[in-house]
Amino acid sequence: MKVHHKIFEPYINQADIERRVRELAEQISADHKDENPLFLAVLNGSFMFTSDILKLLEFPAEVSFIKIASYLGTESSGNVSELIGLNENIEGRDIVILEDIVDSGLTIEKLQAMLIEKGAKNVTIASFLYKPSKYKASVPLDYVGFDIPDYFVIGYGMDYNGYGRNIKEIYKLKG
Ligand code: IMP
Ligand code: MG
Repeated sequence: MKVHHKIFEPYINQADIERRVRELAEQISADHKDENPLFLAVLNGSFMFTSDILKLLEFPAEVSFIKIASYLGTESSGNVSELIGLNENIEGRDIVILEDIVDSGLTIEKLQAMLIEKGAKNVTIASFLYKPSKYKASVPLDYVGFDIPDYFVIGYGMDYNGYGRNIKEIYKLKG
């Protein structure tokens, strides 16, 4: 498959995605059904994973869709992250973050810190993919669909320069 002159090849097929999502949904249901958790889907990449997981949960769940905007602040503040779209009061709440992929872990680490600062009681992290060899953060991931090597992947919500999020299987950059 060609995206912006780069060639991608099939990597994780639909059956494997569905099987892992079902297993994760079962675990998340069992572990969180009595907590009334707020699910936070990190846009844009997690929209497909979020939809699939939520449909399989065994209880009526609350979900909100957030974005992390990163921009360069003043020299002293360095790189600033802003949390957009969180309108709920999360004081004392159990939060489950839904991510498409964790690479360096910096996004998830900043997000977790911002949620704790807003009073979240507990922040659980679920990511469909995880690249252990790239991980620089210290927060533990609670649920992971697949550990993958340092491949660049698209599909199942993930993009290359904005394209490919709609593909229902996961492709990796050929090379
Ligand atoms: P991190 O902060 O380095 O962990 O990066 C997290 C974000 O980068 C993910 O939520 C994705 O949006 C994006 N990302 C990281 N690796 C890939 C990839 O292989 N394909 C597409 N997006 C990726
Ligand atoms: Mg993401």
